Amino acid sequence: MCYNKNMKALIIFASPHRQGSTAALVNVFKENFKGEVEQIDLFPNLSKGISPCIDCGGCKRKMGCVINDDFEKVTRDDYHVLVIASPIYISNLPPPLWNLISRFNFTFGNRVYLKQTRQFKEKEGVLILTGGGTECKKLMGKTNEDEALKEANYIFAKVNARLDHVFLSLNTDIFPAEKDENVKEKIALAARELSSQQDKH
Ligand SMILES: Cc1cc2nc3c(=O)[nH]c(=O)nc-3n(C[C@H](O)[C@H](O)[C@H](O)COP(=O)(O)O)c2cc1C
Repeated sequence: MCYNKNMKALIIFASPHRQGSTAALVNVFKENFKGEVEQIDLFPNLSKGISPCIDCGGCKRKMGCVINDDFEKVTRDDYHVLVIASPIYISNLPPPLWNLISRFNFTFGNRVYLKQTRQFKEKEGVLILTGGGTECKKLMGKTNEDEALKEANYIFAKVNARLDHVFLSLNTDIFPAEKDENVKEKIALAARELSSQQDKH
């Protein structure tokens, strides 16, 4: 494979555990993506995180969101691949990702009050979800990632990312993700392929 060093991946890491299941899978992506990688850690025990929307009204007066934190890295739009890596919590994405979702409220303020819509460049989306829902699956007869998928889709759509790569490891309670060779192989292949693409920006 011929790699393109100019490709940039922005990783949104939404697990509180640096050595956990989600980290094991995101590390495979990082090892195999041959361009630039920037990571945002969302949990306050790992970083300052991303604040929720605080209804300050800044987006009614100025384009974008005026809160100064890592959300700026998401809206900077200088990346070709957006990776969201997250555990499932009570069938949903964890609260720090809800904070991030709420920050896209700025698009509403900008559109309604400034009559302008922020255009994001086309990009690729990668979703890595882990869950330890074996018991839940037994009890309910189904896996429980649907809500989390919907929430993640909202984020990818907001930054104009096409979500062609979804990786699930949903039995981490009995089968740790670091041993899930099948999903690890698929993530490695996707990361190599994505870093060998032409820069379309
Ligand atoms: C508060 C909480 C709620 C959870 N809810 C679910 C759930 O609804 N479905 C599921 O499959 N796993 C659930 N889990 C399990 C985690 O998603 C799973 O252990 C995950 O792999 C942890 O990733 P990490 O090692 O990166 O933290 C939950 C865990 C916690 C702490």
